[in-house]
Amino acid sequence: MKKWISTLALAAMSLQGFAQNEVTLDASQAKTQINRQIYGHFAEHLGACIYGGLYVGENNTKIPNINGARKDVIEALKKMKIPNLRWPGGCFADTYHWKDGIGPKKQRPSIVNAWWGGVTEDNSFGTHDFLNLCKELGTEPYLAGNVGSGTVKELSDWVQYVNHNGVSPMANLRKENGQDKAWGVKYWGVGNEAWGCGGNMKAEYYANIYRQYATFMTDWDNGSKLFRIASGANSKDYNWTEVLMRDIPHHMLEGIALHHYSVINWDKKGPAANFTEEHYFKTMQQALFMDELIQKHTAIMDKYDPKKKVALVVDEWGGWYEVEQGTNPGFLYQQNTMRDAVLAGATLNIFHKHSERVRMANLAQIVNVLQAVVLTKEEKMILTPTYHVMEMYNVHQDATNIPVEIKSNDYVFGTEKLPAVSVSASKDQAGVVHISLTNIDINKGQEISINLKGITAKAVTGRVLTSAKVQDHNTFDNPEKVKPTTFTGASISGGTLKVKLPATSVVVLELK
Ligand code: AHR
Repeated sequence: MKKWISTLALAAMSLQGFAQNEVTLDASQAKTQINRQIYGHFAEHLGACIYGGLYVGENNTKIPNINGARKDVIEALKKMKIPNLRWPGGCFADTYHWKDGIGPKKQRPSIVNAWWGGVTEDNSFGTHDFLNLCKELGTEPYLAGNVGSGTVKELSDWVQYVNHNGVSPMANLRKENGQDKAWGVKYWGVGNEAWGCGGNMKAEYYANIYRQYATFMTDWDNGSKLFRIASGANSKDYNWTEVLMRDIPHHMLEGIALHHYSVINWDKKGPAANFTEEHYFKTMQQALFMDELIQKHTAIMDKYDPKKKVALVVDEWGGWYEVEQGTNPGFLYQQNTMRDAVLAGATLNIFHKHSERVRMANLAQIVNVLQAVVLTKEEKMILTPTYHVMEMYNVHQDATNIPVEIKSNDYVFGTEKLPAVSVSASKDQAGVVHISLTNIDINKGQEISINLKGITAKAVTGRVLTSAKVQDHNTFDNPEKVKPTTFTGASISGGTLKVKLPATSVVVLELK
C-alpha cells in the first residue's frame, strides 16, 4: 500500500513537472520590426576587455591579429553577428579625452584608469583603432561622449573628427592621422550614468546640459543624421525618464538609455559559478524584472511621445556577480554559466516583446568583463554560454515580431515563484518563422503547446543549449562543455506545435 502511494505521488509529481504551458502566436498581428540593434554589445576600457581581450597590439607575434585586434575574437564575433558596439565606456567614457588616443602611438600620453583598477593605459587603442575594428566586424560604432569631465567643444570636435568629410580643423587632423574618409558614426551617447559616475547630476541639471551638448553635435555631410542617446535611468528611477522626456525637446533626442543589471545585492553579489539555487532564483527575479521596468519607462515615454519617436536604449544589461578569486576586483572578470544563458534568452524575449519602444540594447560587456560572450587567456579564447544564446537568437535580427500570449507554469523556490517559460517569435524577410523558448526552471522540464495562428508549417527543426547543471560553464581546459546541439523535442501537427523543453534550457526553432 505504502509503495503504491509513493508510486502515485511520483507519477503526480512528474505530471506536474510536465503540465502543459499554453502559448498562442498570432502571425496576423505581426507588425513591429525587432531592430537588430537590440543585439548590441559594449566594450569599455575595463580590465581585459580592450587590452588583452579585443586588442593585443600590432607588434604581438604570439597572438594573430589584424592591426592589433585579435583575429580569433574577430572571427567569433562576426559569426555571432553584432550590429553595434558601444565604446569607450561606461564610467570610463566620462574620463576619456579622445585626443589622447589619436596620432602616432608612441607619442600618445598615458592615463590612469581611475574607475577600473587604477591601471595605467598607454592609449594605444583609440578612435581609429576602434572604428577600424568596427569596420572589420561589420558592426556600427556607438560612441559614448565625455560629458562629466569633458567640454562641449571636445565632444563637438570628436563628432567633426569622425564625421566631417570636407575641409575643417578636425577633418584635416583626421587626414593627417591617415584616415581620409570620415567614418560616418551615427550613434552617440551624451555622457553615461549622469546620475552617478558621470557627474552625480540631478535629472533637471542633466537635461539642461544635454540640450547644450546636443546643440553642438552637428550632422555632417555623410548622409546619416546623428542618433543622440541621453544618459538614462538607473533601473527603476522613473523620475529620471520623466524629467528627460519633459525637459528635452524631442527633435534633439533620438534615444534615452536605461541601465539594469541582474544583481542580487550590490554588497553581496554571490559567486559567478559556484552559486546556490537561492542565488540563481534571485538573479532570475532581477532578470525578469526587466519586463516591468520597460513597461513603466515606456508608459512615461508614451505620455510625452505617443508616436514612439524616441527609442528606449537599454545600453547596459546583464548579470553582475563577484569577480573570480585572485583577480583584480576592479576588472569585473566573472565566469559565465547556464544561468547567464537563460538570463540572456529570457531578456531577449522581453526586448522582442517591447520592440516598438526598445530599439537598441547593449549587453555588458563583450570580452572578459561581466556577462561576456568571449573570455580570453593569453592566446586562448573560449565562447561562453551567453555567446551561444546570442548566436542562436540572431535569426530574429530585423525580423517582424509575432505577438505571443503565454500561460506558463511556475518555477517555485521556497515560498516564491516565477514564470518558468518565456517565448518570443518572429518572421524574417524570407517568411521563415523562428520561435525562441527559455525554461528557467532548473528542476523541471516543461511541455508546451503552441497554437500557431496564421502560420502554415509542416516541419520544425531547432537547436538547444542546455547542460546537466545550471552552474555548468566552459573553461580553457574544457571549452565545449556547454554548446548548442540539435533539438529533437518539437513536433508539429495541424496548427499546433508541441515542445518539450529540458530543465534550464534555451531553444530556437525554425518552422518550415
Ligand atoms: O559595466 C560596468 C559599469 O557599470 C559601467 O562602466 C557603468 O556605466 C555601470 O555602472
